[in-house]
Amino acid sequence: MKILVAYSGGLDTSVLLKWLKEKYSAEIIAYCADVGQREELDGLEEKALNTGASKYFLGDLKEEFARNYIFPMLQANAIYEGRYLLGTSIARPCITKGMLDVALAEGADAIAHGATGKGNDQVRFELSAASLAPQIKCIAPWRDASFRKDFPGRAEMIAYAEANNIPVKASMKKPYSMDRNLLHISFEAGAMEDPWYDATTPADRDMYVLSTAPEDAPDKPEYVQILFEKGDAIGLQAEGLAELITELGDFQVLGEKDGYTLLTPYGIMRVLNALGGKHGVGRVDIVENRFVGMKSRGVYETPGGTILLAAHRDLETLVVDREAMHIRDSLIPKYAQLVYNGFWFAPEREAIQALVTHTQQTVSGEVRVKLYKGNVMNAGRRSPHSLYSEAVATMEGGQEEAYNQDDATGFISLNALRLKASARQVK
Ligand code: ARG
Ligand code: SIN
Repeated sequence: MKILVAYSGGLDTSVLLKWLKEKYSAEIIAYCADVGQREELDGLEEKALNTGASKYFLGDLKEEFARNYIFPMLQANAIYEGRYLLGTSIARPCITKGMLDVALAEGADAIAHGATGKGNDQVRFELSAASLAPQIKCIAPWRDASFRKDFPGRAEMIAYAEANNIPVKASMKKPYSMDRNLLHISFEAGAMEDPWYDATTPADRDMYVLSTAPEDAPDKPEYVQILFEKGDAIGLQAEGLAELITELGDFQVLGEKDGYTLLTPYGIMRVLNALGGKHGVGRVDIVENRFVGMKSRGVYETPGGTILLAAHRDLETLVVDREAMHIRDSLIPKYAQLVYNGFWFAPEREAIQALVTHTQQTVSGEVRVKLYKGNVMNAGRRSPHSLYSEAVATMEGGQEEAYNQDDATGFISLNALRLKASARQVK
């Protein structure tokens, strides 16, 4: 048997790797997905091989994640239960696809992941895998009673690692569970299991990684302009942008256009994360409904995604027909639920996506936002596809050709007809 294991080099996945190898007498291939979590990836190959893997693969999925997952989802303005920008949810199908590409090429029989049996992530991994490669088996050690019996706590894991010469980092385990990628970072468990626990106090400020507390953010607001093409951000304009790009340093500039610096989806996310983070944008603290039935409390930082969502929505208001927009809007909760529940590769998500993407044909233009102490303020939008007409909308007189107010009399009368009938109806 050949098993491809989702591997991060941490204690849990190292133990998992070794344990699977023994339990299934299997050949183990370690797979690490880079979805922008910015963890140290150097030395992982050596570590995986020393832990018992026959091979190690690093999947650089950063650009793929931004382009084919985050951006299509942002076209839909997806938001779960009105507040969660789906940062972890959307990464899972991308990681699963990366794993399966390697699993199939290497002739693996199964893939294994370290998600627990109580969460959403297991569902997302396995439903994605079911859609992409139904012949591949999924192994979830945390749902195996013998694994849970062997490792009731962290102490047993450390002991097992030491006994098997798996190097354990001396660093203290964080008192909460974190998941980081290009779109967000999530914090769950630990003190946050109490939904009344206030995670915004100075004592908790060390927890945050991607953003400054709004209280500590600069007193001076900062403008960013975003250039969109067919619903996707393609360029940015901001003071000091060139220096920031040099500082971030891990992506290419594609060119310049009308004062905008053109970037790949990954580059756009990196810059907006930095700018949003500096101004404390995109923090939320919520209780959400997990697919498996429980309620769970989570704190999230999604700086760049929050800016993009606000900017994209703003441009749409100018260029998308009212009824087309309202139909798309009615599908946002459904679309978000599909992403959250792990149905990214399902036919129904693809069908809604086709409608969403169709509405984006005219979503090209510019949006100006102002970042200030946790807020993204809309501060202007313009587009060659604008449906907005000053002549029609103006409150000034003398525009009777563009909009004849007399027409409204009949419009209201006919709309009132059935309301009057209903009011007079014998009940
Ligand atoms: N509750 C969020 C979600 O379901 C975040 C999950 C974080 N996952 C993790 N393995 N720490 O999308
Ligand atoms: C987990 O249980 O593995 C993390 C949380 C989640 O998947 O919802």
